[in-house]
Amino acid sequence: MTDAWANSGLDLHLPIDPRRKAASLEDAVRTAIRDGRLATGTRLPASRSLARDLGIARNSVAEAYSRLVAEGWLEARVGSGTSVADRTFVPTVGAQPSAERTLRLDLRGGVPDVSGFPRTAWAAAVRTALAAAPATALGYQDLRGVESARVALAGYLARARGVWVTPDDVVIAPGFGGVLRLVARALVTRGARRIAVEEYGHALHREVLLDAGLQTVPLPVDDEGAAVHLLDDLDVDAVLLTPAHQFPTGVALSAARRTSVVRWAEHTGAIVIEDDYDGEFRFDRRAIGALQALAPQHVVYAGTASKALAPAIGLGWGVLPGELAAPVLEQHRLAGAATDAVTELALAAFIDAGGYDRTVRASRLRYRARREHADEVLRERMPAARLTGMAAGLQSLLELPEGVAESEVAARAADLGLHWEGLRAYRVESAELSDTHPPAMVLGFGAPPESRFAEAIDVAVTAIAGAQGVAAA
Ligand SMILES: Cc1ncc(COP(=O)(O)O)c(C=O)c1O
Repeated sequence: MTDAWANSGLDLHLPIDPRRKAASLEDAVRTAIRDGRLATGTRLPASRSLARDLGIARNSVAEAYSRLVAEGWLEARVGSGTSVADRTFVPTVGAQPSAERTLRLDLRGGVPDVSGFPRTAWAAAVRTALAAAPATALGYQDLRGVESARVALAGYLARARGVWVTPDDVVIAPGFGGVLRLVARALVTRGARRIAVEEYGHALHREVLLDAGLQTVPLPVDDEGAAVHLLDDLDVDAVLLTPAHQFPTGVALSAARRTSVVRWAEHTGAIVIEDDYDGEFRFDRRAIGALQALAPQHVVYAGTASKALAPAIGLGWGVLPGELAAPVLEQHRLAGAATDAVTELALAAFIDAGGYDRTVRASRLRYRARREHADEVLRERMPAARLTGMAAGLQSLLELPEGVAESEVAARAADLGLHWEGLRAYRVESAELSDTHPPAMVLGFGAPPESRFAEAIDVAVTAIAGAQGVAAA
């Protein structure tokens, strides 16, 4: 370690070859950044003091720094010296396998914008909750979750989503995925074997169902949502749906199909699992209410804090039909997991203080502005592509111009540093179901930070234009 490094406050060993000091300095800094020893934002020693330590001309150090700046490893700011650049974008050195490539922009569906997370209000809720909690609130909890959180959630869900609920019907688990796991296992203990799933959906949730011991049976999705009128012929015990905003096609389950699926459940005794992951985020008018209210004894309503707040909160909730309460809670017990009661208490305080409503409103405005921006840019620069689905939620579908393949667009986007997926990436692999939907990309509004959304859309347009060139050739 040179003195200059020590003086800069860094404890870092850089192997410098005395015969080629400048070149080896460049290599050593590059390697230290690549393997994480020099983190983003770390300030490097001033070139003058490092040159003195290394016994080389200051110009040689300055030259090494400027080459690393040009390659994107370092950044130089007037007045604040040279520091390690933000490397969400990694300069590619030769060809790298795509799986290992770090992409700097992201337009995948279902990813929320966490940059707007209300840190101050959440911290205040944690403080309020801890100050008010009796000692018993810090002990082992009811398997359904902390009572104040269930009371606050029941009030919110009834008010904002029209759910038919009392605090006793609520069970809190680690995210929607956690609720789904408990319900799927409970269904299996009651003899269920097969569950229908939407043709397009979240692959992890299909895996959760399989892991619980259920066989998944795909249900086609069209512009009225899932084809639930086919359920009678599928010999299934349950169905998993995203009725308010189909994930990821963005259509709502039509009124006729809402009625049809409820009738089916009532006739057959089957269970509908309603995944209301982004039900609050309707931009153009009041969100359609929860399906659960039509048949609370046959529908499990499930929601999550992952979209409205952040996945890091790690909370989801289910509203259970009476007959499922005991088997679901038994699965909760068998999971053997401790409850994060402090986060649940904070959620209760946050909802009670109006923070949840305020955060949903603010995110809704942000997502709406992003959708409008994407729509405007696409109309102007790529009119042959069409944004479909309702004005709602964290993603829309972008139908591609005639002849343009999803895989080609995704590959070109990746070459430009953009992580972007086609609709087929969300599709159940099924030999029985014909693949009829026109090629489309799932356009997520949440993942890029506010300052980079416009750039991500520009890159998306460039990727489509490139793929169009291939299609025309
Ligand atoms: C369709 C759908 N449902 C639910 C969720 C939320 O899951 P969790 O609460 O486990 O984060 C997601 C997240 O991506 C999703 O895409």
